[in-house]
Amino acid sequence: MELNITKMNDKKTNGIFVTFEGIDGSGKSTQASSLLRKVQESGLNAVLFREPGGTRISEQIRQILLSTKHTEMSSITEVLLYSAARAQLTEEMVIPGLRDNDVVICDRYYDSTTAYQGYGRGIDMEFISALTKEAARKIEPDLTFLVDVDADLAEKRSSTIGRKDRIELENYEFKIRVIQGFRDLAEKFPDRIVILDGSKEVEQLTETAWKKIQTLLEKKGIIINLEANSENI
Ligand SMILES: Nc1ncnc2c1ncn2[C@@H]1O[C@H](COP(=O)(O)OP(=O)(O)OP(=O)(O)O)[C@@H](O)[C@H]1O
Ligand SMILES: [Mg+2]
Repeated sequence: MELNITKMNDKKTNGIFVTFEGIDGSGKSTQASSLLRKVQESGLNAVLFREPGGTRISEQIRQILLSTKHTEMSSITEVLLYSAARAQLTEEMVIPGLRDNDVVICDRYYDSTTAYQGYGRGIDMEFISALTKEAARKIEPDLTFLVDVDADLAEKRSSTIGRKDRIELENYEFKIRVIQGFRDLAEKFPDRIVILDGSKEVEQLTETAWKKIQTLLEKKGIIINLEANSENI
């Protein structure tokens, strides 16, 4: 593949923060890794983290959250644990990551809390909003890709992966509410959240995401597109 972008070191600013969101089985992790590859192949520094997780402490919290044994977990415990895992990831990895890299990618971030614990579990939205702001240390993603699929396709894809975690075992109505939550968020924050039609081919989705990233990087002065520039000469 021909590389047609270059770094403008003199203009280098902090990196951009990109998140992937969507229901379980929508294709987030597939897209996040495929985008990471694209960004790295172009010569940029990029890192990928997953939520909940990405640090020693957050991975332990992940175990508690997702264990199918923990059927007695209360919704408030759940939202606090997700937020605790996020706070640790943000301080330990995301903030330093944005200083040292051009692109930081996160497989889920705080929109998942709004969708799952807000729309799914019915926890007070104002409480969630205040909590997620603190947990994210007031950091906001520059760009969020919502990998949007319907509940049936998500279910079909999830079941091909094998064993389900505690959240994935939730009922169909819960999943419908979560999907609606993500769609409402996309409508509320159209400048930040880009909807990807997750029923499309993996490659096609990555291309769309990569184009959006390039535009944002150019705006931030992190890269320039030589091909696009040469067309103007
Ligand atoms: N665009 C796509 N077309 C067809 N299959 C896909 C597509 N994207 C992902 N898949 C497949 O669907 C399954 C779920 O994908 P993936 O693990 O990326 O989803 P996820 O959103 O990260 O799920 P989870 O929330 O459970 O981590 C995988 O088997 C993957 O190969
Ligand atoms: Mg995943």
